[in-house]
Amino acid sequence: MEYSFKTLYEEIGGQETIDKLVDAFYPRVYADQDLIPIFQGDIEEIKRKQRMFLSQFLGGPPLYSMEFGPPAMRARHMPHEVTPKRAKAWLRCMKEAFQEIGLDQIPAGQAFYDRLTQVAGIMVNTPDKE
Ligand code: HEM
Repeated sequence: MEYSFKTLYEEIGGQETIDKLVDAFYPRVYADQDLIPIFQGDIEEIKRKQRMFLSQFLGGPPLYSMEFGPPAMRARHMPHEVTPKRAKAWLRCMKEAFQEIGLDQIPAGQAFYDRLTQVAGIMVNTPDKE
């Protein structure tokens, strides 16, 4: 019996799908009232980093670590106030981006979104204000 295992990276369609997702996601983030206060950096640079990060996050080439070293995402988010409300907003933008490119329609896309939900929870580092 032979088994073949595909990574989520392969199952969702590789870098091309990641690029489409990132293009659909960040305009939403930069227009979201909850997220605007912390997303002040260059949108092109954050998109570039996210394309590289998501590649390795899904089992594709470790592009992010080749340039920036260990992902250490929680530590890298510490300079930014990530509240539960902002985590929800981030995931809402991501869900809409998944829907825009049809990634919510395949099982691998659902597995990918579930993993993002888990990691978003870990990124929270500040309580809500109100
Ligand atoms: C939970 C809600 C989240 C919020 C509010 C948030 C917010 C931010 C902010 C403000 C930055 C810095 C942007 C800049 O440089 O101007 C950032 C960077 C980044 N975020 Fe998030 N983030 C969240 C969740 C996530 C998750 C779940 C992932 C990955 C699965 C992720 C991946 C990244 C990456 C790769 C960077 C670039 C890190 C670097 O500077 O090298 N973020 N995020």
